[in-house]
Amino acid sequence: MALSYYAEELKKTAKALAQSGKGILAVDESTKTVGKRLASIGVENTEGNRQAYRGMLFTTKGLGEFISGAILFEETLFQSHADGDSMVKKLNDLGVIPGIKVDTGLRPLSGAHDVETFCSGLDGLVERAADYYTQGARFAKWRAVLQITEDGCPSKLSIRENAWGLARYARSVQESGLVPIIEPEILMDGSHGIEKTAAVQEEVIKEVYMACQINGVLLEGTLLKPSMTVPGAEASNKADPQQVAEMTIRTMERCVPASVPGIVFLSGGLSEEAASVYLNLMNKIERKAKWNVSFSYGRALQHSCLKQWKGSDTDAGQKALIARAQANSEASKGSYVAGSQPSSDEALFVAGYTY
Ligand code: 13P
Repeated sequence: MALSYYAEELKKTAKALAQSGKGILAVDESTKTVGKRLASIGVENTEGNRQAYRGMLFTTKGLGEFISGAILFEETLFQSHADGDSMVKKLNDLGVIPGIKVDTGLRPLSGAHDVETFCSGLDGLVERAADYYTQGARFAKWRAVLQITEDGCPSKLSIRENAWGLARYARSVQESGLVPIIEPEILMDGSHGIEKTAAVQEEVIKEVYMACQINGVLLEGTLLKPSMTVPGAEASNKADPQQVAEMTIRTMERCVPASVPGIVFLSGGLSEEAASVYLNLMNKIERKAKWNVSFSYGRALQHSCLKQWKGSDTDAGQKALIARAQANSEASKGSYVAGSQPSSDEALFVAGYTY
């Protein structure tokens, strides 16, 4: 189907995902990554346990008040809850739009620095996206990763290749009716300061929108999922929360077109509390463009929830999830009071993180 066939629907879906006071729950960890999470609470990585965990998340009463969409891993999109309903139905019942991670992972980028990668999954993507649409997905995610090093990364090659991949992906899934979440993540690894992150991020995001232009991506039917503009995790010069908020908004204002309806940040290894506090401060700054500035957190929404669930305590798990969902919903409107909801201060940063 041509993109023009879906244009109105794409705009409507993107607007619904970017509505004020709501954000996105990222639950698209690969089977290997969710295995590490389950291991941390002593639960075995079986299909049944993944179904139990994600089924608990997707039956949390009231979740749709704070969450507009949930990103799933392919297994979950085609999976049923233990009660026989599909996971897609569970989400729709809550008023949460189902989405799907469509990339097939990072691969070494030949000709570039050792740590540099490109994101794979373009082959047959239009057709795969059409199957996901039939299954009930209405948006997609593709995560490209860039890293800042002291010896010159990200290279021009990596910036160009990753921007191009994101734009090819965005155009491909739009042709099958899915709103692309465009995710150029800059890892927190490194000892660089916040100014360096801002300079790199500006170059990367501008390149992404240049590639979107060449590929004819309908910007009104997309969302951007960037990392926040933070210093490297090992930087000697830490930034305070207000500085992070100001630098992040400055970076976005310099590169993100006003036609993009929403910017949904990833948490990238920030603690639950820091992710909420930074987002809240960003939403207190008067902005030049009207994008909805919100969240698409994985770790920062699930960390306490997983610990509380412990493999079987549905009530405690759901309570923890709602607490972080509500906190971040408030932060997306600039009305979060730090510490007003249970949260963890534990930094969730892992060097060389793979999702
Ligand atoms: P984190 O919020 O844990 O960084 O995950 C979000 C995500 O979807 C990364 O691709």
